[in-house]
Amino acid sequence: MLDAVIDEVDIEHGRRIRVGDQWLFDFASCNYLGFDVDREIIEAVPEYLARWGTHPSWSRLLGSPVLYEQIEARLTELLGSEDSLLLPTITHIHMSVIPVLAGSGTIFLDGRAHKTIYDGAMVAKGHGATVLRFRHNDYDHLEELLKTSTTTPKVIAMDGVNSMTGNAPDVRELVRLAQEHDALLYIDDAHGFGVIGERGRDELCHYGKRGNSLVRHQGQTYDNIILVAGFSKSYSSLLSFLALPTRLKDVLKVAAPPYLFSGPSPVASLATTLAGLEVNEKRGDLYRFEMYRKTKRVLDRLNKLDIYTPNRSGYPLIEIPLARHEDIDPVGRYLFERGIYVTMAAYPLVPKDEVGFRVQITAANGDDEIDLLCAVLGEMSERFELQHGRHRELMLQARAARG
Ligand SMILES: Cc1ncc(COP(=O)(O)O)c(C=O)c1O
Repeated sequence: MLDAVIDEVDIEHGRRIRVGDQWLFDFASCNYLGFDVDREIIEAVPEYLARWGTHPSWSRLLGSPVLYEQIEARLTELLGSEDSLLLPTITHIHMSVIPVLAGSGTIFLDGRAHKTIYDGAMVAKGHGATVLRFRHNDYDHLEELLKTSTTTPKVIAMDGVNSMTGNAPDVRELVRLAQEHDALLYIDDAHGFGVIGERGRDELCHYGKRGNSLVRHQGQTYDNIILVAGFSKSYSSLLSFLALPTRLKDVLKVAAPPYLFSGPSPVASLATTLAGLEVNEKRGDLYRFEMYRKTKRVLDRLNKLDIYTPNRSGYPLIEIPLARHEDIDPVGRYLFERGIYVTMAAYPLVPKDEVGFRVQITAANGDDEIDLLCAVLGEMSERFELQHGRHRELMLQARAARG
């Protein structure tokens, strides 16, 4: 299930894909809201193509179709930030913006930050920044490093909703540390945007409302925070953004290379983003509730089977580590044969005790697909050694003993 060629997708019935002769239920998609298969969004595209052609080939500094202005205005309102800046991908943003923010100061990098944040930090290092890594979610360790560091500026960089564990950091505590040490918090919430949002009495579930991302979800403001996220997951469109002060936006327009040197997003993506923002306001909370309900079914099943997952948030990313990393091939084959498509996490992409697979639940996955996934998880707990409660405890003890 790595580097597979998808021969066909069936968008009429849930989330199904064909690889060769095998039809599978797709639990590897990050299209959390199911906007990739939403008829209203698909049907919005041709009109934009007719008006704008397929692709604006100016870089953004040379000229942006007014669609960018419209998206930035709607997005800024949704996020409740001072301003926002659109660029093609999050990878572009990390590579170009982290070095600008860090200068010759220090980046405090979460030990489990996404590879693209890490790479952005390494580019910054090449430009003279110092990079210090703190243990994942260990704020005491972060504080120790902040106290000992004398170079400025200071940037604390990490994931929002973590792409593997599905859990979110404590933004309030991070803001406190950032303010105390005059640091900037840089959060990549690729997996939270569209999924979680502001809380309210009338929310349908604890994911909150409007999908306006982690900062709003945890009731924080954007003081001292640069939020980065993209439309390529929940909104199924090739486009990404920073939520930032206008003053910084104006600087980045000349200082961040992609605004001048990279091509723009295709018109179809600008169209699906605009249509997606509309659908999000109309039906997004219902889709988020569907995601929550289906995720809960899978987490309840794992709990019943006493299968360990690091997911404590209830958000729709569920990592399932194996007890024996050597089992990864037969496990992958078994899932494939049973018609379940997931993201495999193999060594050395992850440490040996985290080798396993990740399941993502989207609003578009049908209940019949969740039924099969739950049944297959039961079969797997009999055939393979997964990490059960007792096994996990022993492993953590052994790791602590090793220091
Ligand atoms: C946390 C995180 N950041 C960044 C990316 C990369 O995003 P993009 O494709 O917009 O560069 C991903 C994609 O998987 C991700 O999970």
